[in-house]
Amino acid sequence: MRVLSGIQPSGALHLGNYFAMMKRMIEFQENHELFCFIVNYHALTSVKDADLLRKNTFEACVDFLALGIDPEKSFFYVQSDIPEVTELTWILSSITEMGLLQRSHSYKDKIAKGIEASHGLFAYPVLMAADILLYGAQIVPVGKDQKSHVEMTRDIAQKFNHSYGDVFVIPEPDIQDELAVIPGLDGQKMSKSYDNTIEIFAPQDVLKNKVMRIVTDAKTVEEPKDPDNCNLFAIYSLFLDGDGRDELRERYLKPGLRYGDVKKELVHVIWNFFEPYREKREKLLRDPDHVHDIMLQGAKKTRLVGMEYLEKARAAVGLNY
Ligand code: ADP
Ligand code: TRP
Repeated sequence: MRVLSGIQPSGALHLGNYFAMMKRMIEFQENHELFCFIVNYHALTSVKDADLLRKNTFEACVDFLALGIDPEKSFFYVQSDIPEVTELTWILSSITEMGLLQRSHSYKDKIAKGIEASHGLFAYPVLMAADILLYGAQIVPVGKDQKSHVEMTRDIAQKFNHSYGDVFVIPEPDIQDELAVIPGLDGQKMSKSYDNTIEIFAPQDVLKNKVMRIVTDAKTVEEPKDPDNCNLFAIYSLFLDGDGRDELRERYLKPGLRYGDVKKELVHVIWNFFEPYREKREKLLRDPDHVHDIMLQGAKKTRLVGMEYLEKARAAVGLNY
């Protein structure tokens, strides 16, 4: 199966990104054909500082490589290194109905959050459709918030195939329910745009500070706690197996649990969990040329696949005069 997904370099990558997306992608590469990319064209709709976009893009590449993306096994690349994607976006734009884009919740939510209502933001789902259709991806693992974008991709692909003949593969979103929404410090979805994230590679003092900020209820030490409505429990559970989760649940249900103690434990758990990857990350950060080389090789390999689909689309619509 051909599996594809991307992540925006709009800030440092966090536990929500890791557990909902990165970890799964790294697992997929073992028995699927994986396309994994850093979505910097999309990030342009919200990141207006060039240096910051550069830094975030580079660090996202480094984080993925450190955590185990293998550029030999998978197609790992930066979106803007594949010019074919913008051409396909235009072709798809010409058959995408305004109504489809106007109904997008994600567009409305972003405007409500204060992001400038640019044409790029409005056309965001068409570029995302091009990202997916350019490589014939069959499965698109994403968080729940992205499901509607993948559905729009399906609509666009179906409309294209209906009008011009079968060119595109119709992709399926793949959403893991248990992890559908990973909560942040405040209980809302953990997101770079809500300032409620715990970064994967935060320095230890920052990590400690963040974990201490996880919002819990005001129950006294003596009162039993409610694991099912506790943010701290939800975040801690990401690092536990079934037995570990049951044990923590028991502790919650008995009087005497202090949230502060659980938070201190969690700092260690998070730090130790990512420890094996930290050294590799530091090494890559010190060798940017090597990282750029890996990314350019990745783009080269990926473009060969993209060009084939683009050629088919160009021919189908009559651009090959
Ligand atoms: P952010 O919201 O921090 O900007 P992105 O939009 O770049 O994150 O998300 C990249 C991927 O990770 C997407 O597939 C998204 O659905 C998923 N994702 C991000 N945050 C979470 C979360 N808190 N819970 C579940 N999935 C998430
Ligand atoms: N819109 C996605 C997000 O914000 C990122 C993205 C862009 C993407 N193109 C994609 C995800 C293609 C999956 C497939 O998270």
